[in-house]
Amino acid sequence: MAHVVLDDVNKIYGSGPSRVHAVQDLNLEIADGEFVALLGPSGCGKTSTLRMIVGLEEISGGTIRFDDRPVNGLEPQARNVAMAFETYALYPNFTVEENLAFPLEVRGVAAPERRRKAGEIAEILKLTPILGDYPGGLSGGQQQRVSLGRALIRDPAVFILDEVMSHIDAHLKFQMLFDLKAIHRDLKKTMVYVTHDQVEALALADRVAVMSNAKLQQAGTRNELYNRPANIFVADFIGEPPTNFFDVEPDPDDTARLRVVDSGLGFTGSPDRMARLRQSDKSRYIVGIRPQNLRLAADGNTPTLSASVQINEYLGERSILTLGDGNVTFRAMVPPESRAARGDTVTLTYDPADVMIFDAETTVLLG
Ligand SMILES: Nc1ncnc2c1ncn2[C@@H]1O[C@H](COP(=O)(O)OP(=O)(O)O)[C@@H](O)[C@H]1O
Ligand SMILES: [Mg+2]
Repeated sequence: MAHVVLDDVNKIYGSGPSRVHAVQDLNLEIADGEFVALLGPSGCGKTSTLRMIVGLEEISGGTIRFDDRPVNGLEPQARNVAMAFETYALYPNFTVEENLAFPLEVRGVAAPERRRKAGEIAEILKLTPILGDYPGGLSGGQQQRVSLGRALIRDPAVFILDEVMSHIDAHLKFQMLFDLKAIHRDLKKTMVYVTHDQVEALALADRVAVMSNAKLQQAGTRNELYNRPANIFVADFIGEPPTNFFDVEPDPDDTARLRVVDSGLGFTGSPDRMARLRQSDKSRYIVGIRPQNLRLAADGNTPTLSASVQINEYLGERSILTLGDGNVTFRAMVPPESRAARGDTVTLTYDPADVMIFDAETTVLLG
């Protein structure tokens, strides 16, 4: 196992007009045995990052260390990192056991030891009953587990999975996420799971590192990313439906409030955040509030927010209201019993602590 540190890591492909700065000043520490997800939209630099960890791609700047030892100059074989991809690439003429044991055979491990190791991995991956089967007869999930097993049997120091579930249907994906979490619990290996899907990342990982545009935006637990997003990108990317954002300015008549530009809406911020804003000289901010944090108000609830219903989207266990005031629209998640119809005015309430305030220029969370 290994403790992995990325210190100001950069990746630049090409030069001149074809130059691409794919990873920029990336700092990330992955503890020994930790399960970290690297999450971000396509093209943000995830695969480049993990190819540098594996040793398949030269590091253009910075240092990668395993257990305090720089690995920049080491060949992939010397780093002992295993990588699994979405494609299973199993050998069709080999049994499950032979597929699992193949990396050991390549290394010249004797047959009895290969059998023992394959049996051990099969036990963890629940493949024991099908050790004698051929890949052609296996389900997608079983093939995936054989492929994982083949990577794990080498006993890698770090285990990396790149978009391994991108094309697996939702039902099977759920089971595989569960399996993968159990595998990590059993093996306690340092694992890096790369995905563009926040649901996978948040379900699996101890910690999620969110990337966008070649840069790390935030690394944190599910709670940190959800409740204290470092900037507007993270607030928008994490959570479903996405966070509502509003252009706001301080209300000259009420120091507790931020009023929404070009509408009659306004938000009451928490007293400490509002006090901090008064110290700054900015005239514009961006408020973010999650649809889950806007509730239908009961009599006497404060603060409130009233707007007119544009769409009531019924989703079974909840409904999502799209509301509007002037040119401003936003969404609220409400119980399905709410019968609000298009054109009705509804009054919502919220906790001022859930009103996130961002710097309008830098997009950084102020409080
Ligand atoms: N071998 C390469 N040569 C040139 N550009 C590349 C190469 N590999 C990736 N890129 C570019 O680097 C950026 C990041 O790509 P990648 O690391 O694959 O992102 P992700 O895995 O997050 O989708 C993209 O703009 C991509 O086009
Ligand atoms: Mg990729």
